[in-house]
Amino acid sequence: MTGWEDVRVRPATADDMVTVASLQMTAFADRWTVDAIRRLAGLAGAIVLLAERAPDAVPVGYLIGQVITDEAEIHSLAVAEAARRRGIGRLLLAAFEGLAVGQGAVSAVLEVAEDDPAAKRLYDAAGYTIDRASTRLLPDRAGRAGRR
Ligand SMILES: CC(C)(COP(=O)(O)OP(=O)(O)OC[C@H]1O[C@@H](n2cnc3c(N)ncnc32)[C@H](O)[C@@H]1OP(=O)(O)O)[C@@H](O)C(=O)NCCC(=O)NCCS
Repeated sequence: MTGWEDVRVRPATADDMVTVASLQMTAFADRWTVDAIRRLAGLAGAIVLLAERAPDAVPVGYLIGQVITDEAEIHSLAVAEAARRRGIGRLLLAAFEGLAVGQGAVSAVLEVAEDDPAAKRLYDAAGYTIDRASTRLLPDRAGRAGRR
């Protein structure tokens, strides 16, 4: 037992928005405010997930996404640094996809930074392919990754 077997993913509630914001702020240089996260969480079709490590429900990751008609979009995903490479990113992605399909999504898209090999590998392993055409529009990005 490593103590990392029992990580649970659940839909975030309004009370979790500060937790999600603090995870976002420690993972990205482009820090989002709690209000910005609340706005995203309030959008039609929004799905916000929180990963917690048992037994104390320590927050270890989140995913913010949305289903728009039949397409799911991942707006943000991060796992706390100390909790990485334990399958939590994959767990969040799978939970999101399951819920998104339940809401009518048939494909999923996201944007991934050029200098983020961990994220690129995560999405690649999950079956996403990068649409290089969009790098012309987003020079700092590897492109939109999509999965059908
Ligand atoms: C990207 C991120 C969410 C991955 O989360 P994670 O919980 O560490 O990922 P997982 O443990 O589920 O990894 C799943 C697979 O992704 C790939 N992967 C993840 N991190 C990797 C790394 N640092 N290097 C190479 N491959 C990596 C591997 O294929 C891995 O499978 P394996 O461990 O069986 O080899 C995490 O690194 C993170 O929060 N990064 C900072 C924020 C960020 O870049 N978010 C993505 C924005 S699009």
